[in-house]
Amino acid sequence: MHLEIRQTKDGSNTLYVPELNEHYHSVHGALQESQHVFIRHGLEHMLEQKKDLKVLEVGFGTGLNAILTFPAALAKKAFIQYDTLEKFPLSEETVKQLHYENIILNPELHERFYQLHAAAWNQPVDIIPYFTLQKIHESLEEFVAPQSYYDVVYFDAFAPEKQPELWSDAMFEKLYKAIRPGGVLVTYCAKGSFKRSLKAAGFEVEALPGPPGKREMTRGVKPLIRS
Ligand SMILES: C[S@@+](CC[C@H](N)C(=O)[O-])C[C@H]1O[C@@H](n2cnc3c(N)ncnc32)[C@H](O)[C@@H]1O
Repeated sequence: MHLEIRQTKDGSNTLYVPELNEHYHSVHGALQESQHVFIRHGLEHMLEQKKDLKVLEVGFGTGLNAILTFPAALAKKAFIQYDTLEKFPLSEETVKQLHYENIILNPELHERFYQLHAAAWNQPVDIIPYFTLQKIHESLEEFVAPQSYYDVVYFDAFAPEKQPELWSDAMFEKLYKAIRPGGVLVTYCAKGSFKRSLKAAGFEVEALPGPPGKREMTRGVKPLIRS
């Protein structure tokens, strides 16, 4: 797949996929989007409740969400098991061209970013004592999810118009079962049809303010007791 590096409005880079006419992140700011949607309203929201979290990411891609999960985990001394699905892993060359070391404030983490990408697939790897990564080279469609297991799902697929098969009722039913009661799914998308699919799967749907350039984002909560 041909990919091009593009700079977003907050200065951080993203990838553009000409074949899909789609970016990996918001053109209004890749870093701001990731921090706001996945870290603040997903990870940090759950860290208020417990200090030992199992995260599932749909779409590892550039590793931006993974590396931003680190400082949050370190600050709270929280244990994170980070499982991430990826159907089309990026080449080392593409990852280097993103220069994400420039947006990671803590210099100790620069090398860790490349460790995330160098880590073996399909096996747990301890990156730091607080963070275990398991990159799963599999599509969401193929993934056999454990039941009532994850605390947070970062749902970071390409947009519904580009990849409707990933935004289907069947996928949200699968993810609902994979999340433990009280756990959440967060995503940048706020489309009505998507929110109806979340509700149909059993989630309570929260519309939250979006990152810069986007009015809304969505958090689905798996209720503690299903009514
Ligand atoms: C919007 S990008 C976001 C990626 C990543 N979270 C990041 O910050 O770079 C979507 C990602 O989903 C991956 N993907 C596409 N189809 C997939 C599938 N069926 N199952 C799992 N991942 C998929 C893409 O290769 C891409 O890396």
